[in-house]
Amino acid sequence: MDEITFRSDTVLSDVHLYTPNQRHLMVRLNGMGQPVFLSQFKLLWDRDSQTDSGAKGGDHTEGTPPAGAVCSRTGASLQAGAGTITPEGLEAQLDEDGDLDVVRRPRAASASEPPGPPRDKVHPTILTQEEDDVLGDEAPESSPYNVIKIEHTMATPLEDVGKQVWRGALLLADYILFQRDLFQGRTVLELGAGTGLASIIAATVAQTVYCTDVGADLLAMCQRNIALNSHLLASGGGMVKVKELDWLRDDLCTDPEVPFSWSKEDISHLYGHTTILLAAEVFYDDDLTDAVFKTLSRLAHKLKNACTAILSVEKRLNFTLRHLDVTCEAYDHFRAWLQRLEGLAGGRLRFAVEPVDATFPQLLVYERIQQLELWKIFVEPVTDPTVSVDTASQPFS
Ligand SMILES: C[S@@+](CC[C@H](N)C(=O)[O-])C[C@H]1O[C@@H](n2cnc3c(N)ncnc32)[C@H](O)[C@@H]1O
Repeated sequence: MDEITFRSDTVLSDVHLYTPNQRHLMVRLNGMGQPVFLSQFKLLWDRDSQTDSGAKGGDHTEGTPPAGAVCSRTGASLQAGAGTITPEGLEAQLDEDGDLDVVRRPRAASASEPPGPPRDKVHPTILTQEEDDVLGDEAPESSPYNVIKIEHTMATPLEDVGKQVWRGALLLADYILFQRDLFQGRTVLELGAGTGLASIIAATVAQTVYCTDVGADLLAMCQRNIALNSHLLASGGGMVKVKELDWLRDDLCTDPEVPFSWSKEDISHLYGHTTILLAAEVFYDDDLTDAVFKTLSRLAHKLKNACTAILSVEKRLNFTLRHLDVTCEAYDHFRAWLQRLEGLAGGRLRFAVEPVDATFPQLLVYERIQQLELWKIFVEPVTDPTVSVDTASQPFS
């Protein structure tokens, strides 16, 4: 296969598009005949020093990266998010505060555009088993603990977007690594987890992560990614459980014949212990956004404890003929939901929404564009005795 040209109904994540190298390691075809690629995402942390200090989750505070993060091991080559097998690599550029200086892609096609194929084309390199060593060779100084390996596809129809890694997952993963204390020992549920990257990072700190999405093919890929990174989870004792959770269904599938269904014990553990809900880049279609928020509300009403939902979203600007202007309708719909949640009154739960300042350090390499946002929703039981409480009420069900 020399070249894939994307059809107009396929989408390609910027994470896979804007890589410094033109080579991608295709490892197999998935159950649907789509080429699957393997990317390595460099983790700019010094995991050993965190473990040594007993500060897995550690002593760091807001504004300060975990011990040794970012500045250590800069001798190892760095790659952009999915810059998988660049033999030459890129040297880490750190500013005077030790923050990562990300090499930005050119703003427009111009003389500064790197040479290579046009952006609608990708040239996969199909390697034989022996050539797989390319992966091992490209960063010889790098410990396996400083790399997360993710299998993904490169371009998909919209219904398969979960098979790619999206920038929001990297932003969320960065936030998890920055706020390790928040995740330490917790039970976490991720909605629309896709390739599972954020769930895997969460499980380096959390105790149990329910990594959920829909579709046996996608969930199998996710399960594979967890196996590929088991060494990252082992020492922390974190566990990732891949499960099907469809926002368009009210219940969790318990049919043991169905792959990735839930056992009664899992469901009881999920509701009894979960305190953090995650979702990255799941707000791109208004109907699905409605379904995600209804799912969040439904889950929050079933959880025994108060919980915090952490959501990443990319504000995508589009020129529409209908408006003859640049709009961001999917983002506006997302924000309308946040407002609606905050305005809810008289229910059993109170929802408080807060934007997260996305200036925390980057431990994964990607372009943290201004349009990438992180939001928190705090969900607490209403304790004011003067508020009449309808215990059965789930406002959006
Ligand atoms: C843009 S992808 C984001 C994937 C991943 N969170 C990331 O950021 O890389 C959106 C995800 O939502 C999932 N999704 C779409 N509809 C869903 C549904 N009805 N129930 C559960 N997940 C759904 C997709 O399968 C996909 O994994």
